[in-house]
Amino acid sequence: MPDERRPRVFVARQIPEEELLPVRAACDADVWQDELQPSRDELLRRVAGCDGILTLLTDRVDDELLDAAGPRLRVVSNYAVGFDNIDVAACARRGIAVGNTPGVLTETTADLAWALLMAAGRRLPEGDRYVRAGHWRTWGPLLLLGPDVHGATIGIVGFGRIGQAVARRAQGFGMAILYHDVNRLPDEITQPLGASYVSLEELLAQSDFVSLHVNLTEETRHLINAYTLAAMKPTAVLVNTSRGPVIDQLALADALRDGVIWAAALDVTDPEPIPMDDPLVGLDNCLIVPHIASASRATRGKMAAMAAANLLAGVRGEPLPTPVTAAPSP
Ligand code: DGY
Repeated sequence: MPDERRPRVFVARQIPEEELLPVRAACDADVWQDELQPSRDELLRRVAGCDGILTLLTDRVDDELLDAAGPRLRVVSNYAVGFDNIDVAACARRGIAVGNTPGVLTETTADLAWALLMAAGRRLPEGDRYVRAGHWRTWGPLLLLGPDVHGATIGIVGFGRIGQAVARRAQGFGMAILYHDVNRLPDEITQPLGASYVSLEELLAQSDFVSLHVNLTEETRHLINAYTLAAMKPTAVLVNTSRGPVIDQLALADALRDGVIWAAALDVTDPEPIPMDDPLVGLDNCLIVPHIASASRATRGKMAAMAAANLLAGVRGEPLPTPVTAAPSP
């Protein structure tokens, strides 16, 4: 028999267990055990009567889910910095707090963005496939040539914590750094990074590498489309560690196939997982990894600790340590 005095929570996936212990100690915790997320119907069933829910970016939180949860629900704690899976306004209307995990994944995500940039620019996956296919016969003067990363120009779209962390890495490679964001940032932030504010058009026209670090909103959906791709250099490399729908994928496939841009490296796709018949999957100049930007052991542990702290605060009616408020770049 569940103890009705203890808060009931649903945790929509297994997260690092150590960080979950305080939640298990304080709540009746139902933790989804499967590697795949619960089906929609299962999710709606499991949240019924809960005081708190710990969600992942694969779980859509909208009026339907909030209705299914019922009037006890006080908090939705997202195990991610991004929260485009959550209808924050719908939660606010019902007085339900929403938390996310900003800050702790900044450097890890920037590391992966950098790895993608380097790998796509210097053609690492192609080189690896070439060797394993037995094609390596000699040192080739023209073999797998790519652009220099050092000394090139990088354009960073979305200059929040992660965009700035990418800029710090670019400094080490002697790159010219351009950024674009909805708001121009104060000089105290941009000058030490050597980052110059430019319009999106200028950034796309001048950059050898373009890295995306915006939240997914109605304004940023398909920000990269046939028109903006055409504004980029034919030698450009596009990196996306933000959200898949920021890029119009069909337009990107056309651009990569037709040489409108040179290469792309994606940590995120639309949808996820990317279907195996998606045109991008068949392109050698498109590197795709399965949304792993924050996937270091340490960072996933810190995200779990933050998500657990938000969940516990929420079910206790306390202010969340990291509530979702406005939506600056992540
Ligand atoms: C996030 O946190 O938003 C990432 O996409 C997953 O860590």
